[in-house]
Amino acid sequence: MRTAPWDKTRYLERVLARGDVIVAELDGEILAYLVWNREFFSLPFIWLVTVVPEHRREGLASALIASVEERCPGSRLYSSTNVSNVAMQQLLERRGYRRCGEVDVDPGDAEIFYRKTLAARIMGDDGLEPPTFAL
Ligand SMILES: CC(C)(COP(=O)(O)OP(=O)(O)OC[C@H]1O[C@@H](n2cnc3c(N)ncnc32)[C@H](O)[C@@H]1OP(=O)(O)O)[C@@H](O)C(=O)NCCC(=O)NCCS
Repeated sequence: MRTAPWDKTRYLERVLARGDVIVAELDGEILAYLVWNREFFSLPFIWLVTVVPEHRREGLASALIASVEERCPGSRLYSSTNVSNVAMQQLLERRGYRRCGEVDVDPGDAEIFYRKTLAARIMGDDGLEPPTFAL
C-alpha cells in the first residue's frame, strides 16, 4: 500500500499543463499515453505509461517509449515500475532497459528502477545523419 494517497487526476492535469505527456491517438480517441520529463535528478525519466486494455500488446507502449528515446540522444533514460508489474518489467527489458536499483516506495511492492543508455546522434558536415552508436 502507498504511504500517501495519490490524486491521479490532479497529477495528470499538472503534467498535461506542462507538456510532459505524449499520446497515441486514433480517430480522435486516445488509446495510450506516457508521462515523462527531465525532473529525475535533471535526467529524463518515464513516469507513467498506460494503454487502454483493448489495445494492449499492439506495440503502443513501445512506440511511445521509442518517441521519448528519440528526444534524448546520448542520454541515460530512466523509468521504474513495481515488483508486481510484470508487464512493464517485460516491456522495459524487451526495449533494452537494465535494472539499476530498488526503492521501497510502496511497502511490500518495491519500485524497480531501470536505465537505458541511448545512442548519440551526430550530424555530419553535409547535414546528413551518420550512423548512430551506443556510448
Ligand atoms: C504495461 C503496458 C503499458 C504495456 O503496454 P503495451 O502497449 O501492451 O506494450 P507493447 O505492446 O508495446 O509490448 C511490448 C512488449 O512488452 C512485453 N509485454 C507487454 N505487456 C506484457 C504482458 N502483459 N506480459 C508480458 N509481457 C508483456 C512483451 O515483450 C511485448 O512484446 P510482444 O507483445 O511482442 O510479446 C500496459 O500493459 C498497461 O497499460 N498496463 C497498465 C498500466 C501500467 O501498469 N503501466 C506501467 C506502470 S508505469
